[in-house]
Amino acid sequence: MHLPEALPKAELHLHIEGTLEPELAFALAARNGVDLPYADTEELRAAYLFSDLQSFLDLYYGLMAVLRTADDFTELADAYLARAARQGVRHAEIFFDPQAHTERGVPLGTVVEGLARALDRSEERHGVSTQLIMCFLRDRSAESAMETLRAAEPYLHHIVGVGLDSAEVGHPPSKFAEVYAAAGALGLRKVAHAGEEGPPAYVREALDVLGVERIDHGLRAMEDGELVERLVRERVPLTLCPLSNVRLRAVDVLEDHPLPSMMAAGLLVTVNSDDPAYFGGYVGDTFHAVHEALGIGQEQLRELARNSFLASFLDHDEDRRARYLAEVEAYTFD
Ligand code: HPA
Ligand code: ZN
Repeated sequence: MHLPEALPKAELHLHIEGTLEPELAFALAARNGVDLPYADTEELRAAYLFSDLQSFLDLYYGLMAVLRTADDFTELADAYLARAARQGVRHAEIFFDPQAHTERGVPLGTVVEGLARALDRSEERHGVSTQLIMCFLRDRSAESAMETLRAAEPYLHHIVGVGLDSAEVGHPPSKFAEVYAAAGALGLRKVAHAGEEGPPAYVREALDVLGVERIDHGLRAMEDGELVERLVRERVPLTLCPLSNVRLRAVDVLEDHPLPSMMAAGLLVTVNSDDPAYFGGYVGDTFHAVHEALGIGQEQLRELARNSFLASFLDHDEDRRARYLAEVEAYTFD
């Protein structure tokens, strides 16, 4: 089986809570005695018609009510990693949203230890190496982000870096300058969602004020030619999520996605799945979809796979990065 889907790749933009499939949500709801406002998986899936980022976030945070125990988080991550492996993923840098759980009374330790159990055995079980990135919810206060960072200190051996997600507009990166400085002082890597719905200025702020190494999404950077030139010059990776952009109405249809022009501009872009249970596909499906809808050919798919390893936080293990890159070069389609 040598399909574009199976090309070896890293997934760098994946919210673990966004891998909660309706079937698992109902199973966990039954196990934990949580009432869901949907009759069945079909009715839940029918609610996945989003008008923008906020309309998705409302459902996404609501469904997290079913995640209560460390075992729930282990099962969620295990299910994702098994699927990811089948889609060619060799390395995954996985986001989680601590505040979305601590606010519901689920302790941070429960979340991290549950996820870490699945991640620590992922290489052996699924052949996927992993890292964990803790995201701050940007529509909560800067103080809450700082409290979250402090609460995470006992678990930092499981966490490679920090990110910034949730409702973007009105919550510029600069709001989190202090917590990012503190995260940097703890030796954490830094990324942030920017330019998904927010303006190009948010991408600049993420770079200049927060000092991020990668931009998650960065779609709207394309509105600012000087910014594009800078991103190219500084080789700043952009972790694109084309299926997410369609479902959250950032682009009308996949055929309109700027991925081809971003590649042509020389940007270091990667293709990722964001919240695959909600957006209609895992990362291999996404590679397939951009191939079909955007005419991204085999050698460009290979470039995207190469970029994913170049942009990954594998600096502590360059031998591994080199092995993965060699797998990309050796891959034969069909
Ligand atoms: N954008 C912002 N926050 C998120 C997303 C996203 O696409 N998915 C989960 N949290
Ligand atoms: Zn995201």
